[in-house]
Amino acid sequence: MPGAVKVLEGVAMELEDCAFPTLCGVEIGDGANHIFDGANVAMLVGASPRTKGMERSDLLGANGAIFAAQGQALAANAASDLRVVVTGNPANTNAYIAYHNAPGVPAERFTALTRLDHNRALHQLAVKAKRPVGEVTNMTIWGNHSSTQYPDVFNARINGENAACWVGDDAWINFEFIPTVAKRGAAVIAARGASSAASAADATIKHVRDWFAGTPAGGWTSMGVVSDGSYDVPAGLVSSFPVTTSKGDWKIVQDLPISAFARHFIQTSVSELVSEAEAVKELGFVK
Ligand code: LMR
Repeated sequence: MPGAVKVLEGVAMELEDCAFPTLCGVEIGDGANHIFDGANVAMLVGASPRTKGMERSDLLGANGAIFAAQGQALAANAASDLRVVVTGNPANTNAYIAYHNAPGVPAERFTALTRLDHNRALHQLAVKAKRPVGEVTNMTIWGNHSSTQYPDVFNARINGENAACWVGDDAWINFEFIPTVAKRGAAVIAARGASSAASAADATIKHVRDWFAGTPAGGWTSMGVVSDGSYDVPAGLVSSFPVTTSKGDWKIVQDLPISAFARHFIQTSVSELVSEAEAVKELGFVK
């Protein structure tokens, strides 16, 4: 945004001052066509936040304009191996708008960040189990990056064992774990007076790193990806799934057991994605 270029100058200075040995240059600007020229990876972190008195449709309208323009600029200027992750909210629907406005770029190159929710879930589970966070694996965030998301303990593992059995406390899962993870973004805003920054940046980097470097054998991560209809999520929606990754490709992990309880949560979150998709169609950002 033109009004943010001055701030960006400060960010560029800070990047230089970190003396990262792999940073070979920083370019800044407010022209999407110029800035996306030749991009291999686009991390779309900027979005218009919801402010006081704003309705959800206002938020979708403000971001529809940003992400339609960014999708068009990426399609026209980025490299042919482009990969995109959307961090700016509403991340899933912003990715949905961007891929619909990027003719010629395969839809599977556009993803939305749910790794932040995934990492939040790993931490909560590790604390409950009194185990190091590195022992918690196979976490899944299903659905939207919003308070309707479903963080799945039942397919997760702690030290290789089923996490729900390890915890053995369904009341904690239902009434503490799920709402804590799903509402963590709001809790951070309430505490900091600003949206998560360090954890969102870290999750974005981990999302991209794993997309290229791959998930470990037998493991998976969570990414918002374009649904192929798996798990009855309507094809074309950008929803979070368990995915394995390798060299810039992803695949949805199939045939995980989903209980009626989990199905109910996932359907609620997917219904929210359907209504967001309908809203941006009505606003004219998606044909
Ligand atoms: C987060 O999960 O921390 C953010 O997406 C919250 C927000 O609305 O900015």
